Amino acid sequence: MNFRTVTPEEMKKAAALEALKLVRDGMVLGIGTGSTVNFFIDALKDLIAQGVRIRGVSTSFESSERARAVGVNVEEDYTGPIDLDVDGADEMDASGNLVKGGGGALLREKIIAYNSKNVCIIADESKFKANGIGTFRIPVEVLPYLSQMTRNQVEKIGGICIFRDNGKYRTDNGNMVMDCDFGIIKNPAEMENKIKMVPGVMEVGLFCGLATLAFVAGQDGTRTINFKNFSP
Ligand code: 5RP
Repeated sequence: MNFRTVTPEEMKKAAALEALKLVRDGMVLGIGTGSTVNFFIDALKDLIAQGVRIRGVSTSFESSERARAVGVNVEEDYTGPIDLDVDGADEMDASGNLVKGGGGALLREKIIAYNSKNVCIIADESKFKANGIGTFRIPVEVLPYLSQMTRNQVEKIGGICIFRDNGKYRTDNGNMVMDCDFGIIKNPAEMENKIKMVPGVMEVGLFCGLATLAFVAGQDGTRTINFKNFSP
């Protein structure tokens, strides 16, 4: 017998195509950022060609451009509600706690997730961490002003923080990102709140209690994990 290995890219696409099945005519979508979401954005093209009308709010300049290119009406100043946010993750646990921001879009991603009726996470199986999140260093978006002080305060919580690209990296909002190692995080919600309280922290890449469901694609197909009820 010939068992072909499913590649990570095929898994990302499989998860993205499951999320596509949730899209309905007239919906306002939250459009995430990253290589997995790119498969979702590209697949919207066929739906739009079939006459499905889709408006969206986007989490990054890159995703806005990609979504516009396939015909999504991307709004810049939308007041809500957002029907369905589709986004990737760097890590996810069985309770739906997420690490996000590997692509630097965490602040806009959290605003959109927080304001969405439903948040659908799409990922390949490498992102699912049954033993807890925190192996991937937690991205923290920081105002450049007195950023070393902010770093010192976040490190007092118990982590080691490194400024991305030696401090040269800037988000779409003009801020810096620190990648912070706290080890496996026992209580992600508590950690999210503690880091968020430090002045100078614009956002933390821990997303707790926001995910509605996840599609996680692996070698044996794509499984659905429900964290909350889907709101129509
Ligand atoms: C960007 C993110 C992405 O969702 C996360 O980094 C996953 O990206 P990819 O799908 O490329 O693995 O949080 O800020």
